[in-house]
Amino acid sequence: MTIPPLKLGSLEIWPPVVSAPMAGYTGGVYREILREHGCPYSYTEMVSAKGLLHGGDDSQEILSHRDEDRPLAVQIFGYEAESMAKAAAMLSEDDRGFAAIDINMGCPARKITSQGSGGALLKNVSLACDILRAVKESSKLPVTVKARLGWADSSGAVEFAKAMADAGVDMLVFHGRTVSQGYSGKADWRTIEEAASEVPVPVVGNGDITTAKEALDRVENGPCAGVMVGRAILGNPVFFDELVALLRGEEPEDYTGERKMSLAKEHFMRSIERYGERRGLLEMRKQLVFYFRGMRGAARLREAVLKEKSAEAVVRLLDEGWRAFQ
Ligand SMILES: Cc1cc2nc3c(=O)[nH]c(=O)nc-3n(C[C@H](O)[C@H](O)[C@H](O)COP(=O)(O)O)c2cc1C
Repeated sequence: MTIPPLKLGSLEIWPPVVSAPMAGYTGGVYREILREHGCPYSYTEMVSAKGLLHGGDDSQEILSHRDEDRPLAVQIFGYEAESMAKAAAMLSEDDRGFAAIDINMGCPARKITSQGSGGALLKNVSLACDILRAVKESSKLPVTVKARLGWADSSGAVEFAKAMADAGVDMLVFHGRTVSQGYSGKADWRTIEEAASEVPVPVVGNGDITTAKEALDRVENGPCAGVMVGRAILGNPVFFDELVALLRGEEPEDYTGERKMSLAKEHFMRSIERYGERRGLLEMRKQLVFYFRGMRGAARLREAVLKEKSAEAVVRLLDEGWRAFQ
């Protein structure tokens, strides 16, 4: 199977299958785990351009990452060209270690769109272009955009992609839904692929990919330069092992209950180590349940883990306790 790498500036991303930014899930700990399983490219969780300029502590934590967690794009959101450009200039300094600046033009959360940021930029394409141009001008790094197909309908998606290409975008990621859709319905790959065939810049398709095989089929048999995978990689770092195995023509190893629990424990321990017991427990509750997907007794296991109040008890459950639910 010969699949070309995804080219972004001087970077060659291979396989051209990248992990999606997911606020609250793809922080440093999980990104490092994904890398160890073969993930070639990731994003920080989104950070407010204005917050960054005003020195918010939250932003600094989102930005901090380890050398082994590269190449890494930093994703910013905002609604003013000037603050976005200033944030991009700051983030493109060499010592920050980022590979690209990504602009969020897809987030449907009301607290983001009500200020005119995220997905709301799709209602104002000329502002979206102004922001992109300003960020391009002030950044030393490639500038990418992650967008949805439109605000309320996708009829303008190809025009939007062309406008982004004209304004100098280096790569466009399209999630195949509109902002109004939220996560309902199915991702519209026909429109993503139509846009990918019509613009001269790499388009990365995103939405509803569930398996490594599906990801490879999309890049092998369609016009997208790459694909991005979100929810399917939660509790499932072996997604990338499976990808590597398929590319080698090998049969991927089964993701058995034992493997799930051992990887869940690894993820849990690293979170506790990085963030301390209290915060680690809080953050990992929502992540651990993804490791239970597809297991017998998943609902009861979920209930059991949500009840535990100490790291030690969670570890016992992941070590041996889970077997009682099988
Ligand atoms: C919990 C969660 C958090 C997300 N956070 C972000 C984010 O910070 N920035 C962003 O561009 N997209 C974000 N997304 C959207 C994903 O990156 C992706 O576009 C979407 O989930 C569709 O891909 P999938 O079907 O493979 O999950 C988030 C999605 C989820 C489920």
